[in-house]
Amino acid sequence: MSNTTDKRQPIKAVRGTRDLLPDQTPLWNRVETTARAVFARYGFGEIRTPIFEATELFARGVGEETDIVSKEMFTWEDRARAASEKAQSLTLRPESTAGVVRAYIEHKLGETGQLQKLFYIGPQFRRERPQRGRYRQFWQIGAEVIGPQTSGAESPIRDAEVLEMLASLLDELGIRDWKLELNSVGNSDDRARYNIALREALAPVAHQLCPDNQRRAETNPLRVLDSKDEADQDIINALPRIADYLGEDSRDHFAQVLAALDACGVQYHVNPRLVRGLDYYTRTTFEFTVTTGLGTQNALLGGGRYDGLSEMLGGPRAPGIGFAIGEDRLILTLQAQAEADRAAAEAAQSSGGPFIARSLRDEWATSKLDAYIAPIGPAQNPAALALARDLRRQGLTIEVGDGKFKLGKSFDTADKLARHIILLGEDEAQSGMLTLKSFASGEQSKIRSTEIAKILKSLDRIF
Ligand code: HAM
Repeated sequence: MSNTTDKRQPIKAVRGTRDLLPDQTPLWNRVETTARAVFARYGFGEIRTPIFEATELFARGVGEETDIVSKEMFTWEDRARAASEKAQSLTLRPESTAGVVRAYIEHKLGETGQLQKLFYIGPQFRRERPQRGRYRQFWQIGAEVIGPQTSGAESPIRDAEVLEMLASLLDELGIRDWKLELNSVGNSDDRARYNIALREALAPVAHQLCPDNQRRAETNPLRVLDSKDEADQDIINALPRIADYLGEDSRDHFAQVLAALDACGVQYHVNPRLVRGLDYYTRTTFEFTVTTGLGTQNALLGGGRYDGLSEMLGGPRAPGIGFAIGEDRLILTLQAQAEADRAAAEAAQSSGGPFIARSLRDEWATSKLDAYIAPIGPAQNPAALALARDLRRQGLTIEVGDGKFKLGKSFDTADKLARHIILLGEDEAQSGMLTLKSFASGEQSKIRSTEIAKILKSLDRIF
């Protein structure tokens, strides 16, 4: 089955995937906890959809001609395992909006008549060329607002609320210098008119474009606008702009979104070239970019309206708007900001100023354990484990050593992990009086084993 040559060769994580180790996960958890708290304040509930879906969902929802569907999906033919099953093409989700809308349709959430406000946090998969801020498995924190027309899902207030929520979330997370760019890509009528104009403008120049863009000029001209091909940029920049093809409805909708953003004090820049790389978008589209830490992959998050997506997936009319934050990029930004702060503080200190920056790890990491139990001699291991069980059940954070360790090794290990060490030797086991030492104060005392939990809880737990 495998063609590996040397069985002793260590196996590495697959290109474009990463392990997040315990010194990194506190920051990830902190970001997710903050996002959950902010989403709760805006009335969002969590949805968890499968990590793989029928390939057709993305082909229809995201669009056959998009880079995501045409080049980047992890797709496989899933063989039937029984006569009752059909073989089918499956795909690891490259994004979650299509899956969320599928679930909305499948569970008839529209029949409640209520606006559905749903958020998700989870991995996505795209076969892109890996680089800083771009991975093949990456994480998104996203949200969707969707409902029947009568629920007000189409209202510009929903667009502005989502954007204001994002501004508040990024501020609360401490992301500095973010920039919101937005545009309207019009409704389906506007898009039809714009497509005709694009085709006309592309016809005389299409032969000068790269082969991918030549094909797109035929099949889905809007996608030519997302092209990153350097040589094609002059031609792309001279193409007509969607803003000039918006009908009154779309212009009015967009103006109302902007007015609500002004009222909330959310700063933005209208970028008439922002069309986004997925086919389902209608009217408002947006991206938040940052200047620190991401280099060329500076889009921290993207989103927009998708008023026709439910119908494209065979569902009822259900306008919607949503976004997805690239969590990996959010973390990189926070880390780069903390690094910049630290460098600035060090520079200030070396010129005589106060040293104020703490490392990101100090700021986000969990504090040390309450205590380390050191059994003295292997015979004390069972009693040590039983004591650990009692203390843990009372909510304390405990590590247990091994009675085989020399006392010096137990102390070294304990000092790295915990704020206190509890010594459990034969004397202690017999007398029921345990030795407790605080590393911070150096104080050592004999404590009755039944009192240990109370004492540890009464001591300052902030390290
Ligand atoms: P998207 O622009 O394709 O939109 O992705 C959203 C964000 O995910 C990007 O801005 C970026 O931060 C992050 N991202 C995308 N690809 C990668 C990658 N390979 N590595 C690391 N981060 C990446 C969507 O996915 C839409 N579903 C957003 C949406 C929700 N629109 C409406 N509702």
